[in-house]
Amino acid sequence: MEIISTTKKMQEHADSVRRLGKTIGLVPTMGFLHEGHLSLMREARKRTEHLVVSIFVNPTQFGPGEDFDAYPRAFERDAALAEKEGVDVIFAPVETELYTKEFQTYVVLEKIPKHLCGISRPTHFRGVATVVAKLFNIVKPDTAVFGRKDYQQFVLIRRMAIDLNFDIEIVGFPTVRESDGLAMSSRNSYLTPEQRRSALSLYRSLIEGRKLVKSGIKNSSRIIDSASKLINSHKETDIDYISICDPETLVEMEIIDRPAIMALAVKVGKTRLIDNMMLNPSEGMTDDPSAY
Ligand code: PAJ
Repeated sequence: MEIISTTKKMQEHADSVRRLGKTIGLVPTMGFLHEGHLSLMREARKRTEHLVVSIFVNPTQFGPGEDFDAYPRAFERDAALAEKEGVDVIFAPVETELYTKEFQTYVVLEKIPKHLCGISRPTHFRGVATVVAKLFNIVKPDTAVFGRKDYQQFVLIRRMAIDLNFDIEIVGFPTVRESDGLAMSSRNSYLTPEQRRSALSLYRSLIEGRKLVKSGIKNSSRIIDSASKLINSHKETDIDYISICDPETLVEMEIIDRPAIMALAVKVGKTRLIDNMMLNPSEGMTDDPSAY
């Protein structure tokens, strides 16, 4: 496994791989890898012949007062995990490689960032779209794999790739969960044992939402009410939003008369956690609630 830290070397490497006729897969990450990230790597590995994982804690997607400085970093451990998964290259640029002093070009989507996380994190998706566009131009992948755990991010990147004519297949991989259902996240490492118990209420409220839809309830507000009661009954929780929305546009749906995404963001102590699930009124609940 090679570790590349400059854009020029990465671009040259991508060119040489492409000249050999090999397809390139990319899994962008901010590191502190867990089983969710590793599953994306396995998926990309299946679909392509040369696997690149980027590790970069992207400053432009953190707002003022957010956890950029505190974000967990463990490069040696990450590199060992990636190597075990058969990763060919880790692209780990330093900040000044991606953002030079004169940097001033951002990718801004007009509608998708106006919903869900974009409301309380107004510059977040500009930072995400920009860094991912840069990674696409540097790594030149044929396929890039993203987690549906960050559902809004996945929809945003898929839109950006279409709108800006990136010739890249964007794959969305299902959420990987702990055995009790908590969505895996690098930020789970911030939680105390008691907060970890409260954090499970996100998953439980999504499962409850699915059950209500299965029992025939179509009114979003009833499902959101029940979710917020459940979450508020746990210690140290502070709901940012609970939304039931269109899977493509993320516009809220009052009546669940077709598949919808139930998405939520909750602060547990100081840690902001997100999760989502598909609600499908025609199918009800599958045996495996995370498989959608
Ligand atoms: P990060 O949070 O490190 O996540 C990297 C990728 O792993 C994202 O596509 C994310 O959706 C996916 N992922 C995280 N937890 C997951 C889980 N439990 N199951 C499945 N996939 C999961 O998302 C980012 O980094 C950044 O915003 C990035 C896209 C790298 C741009 O900076």
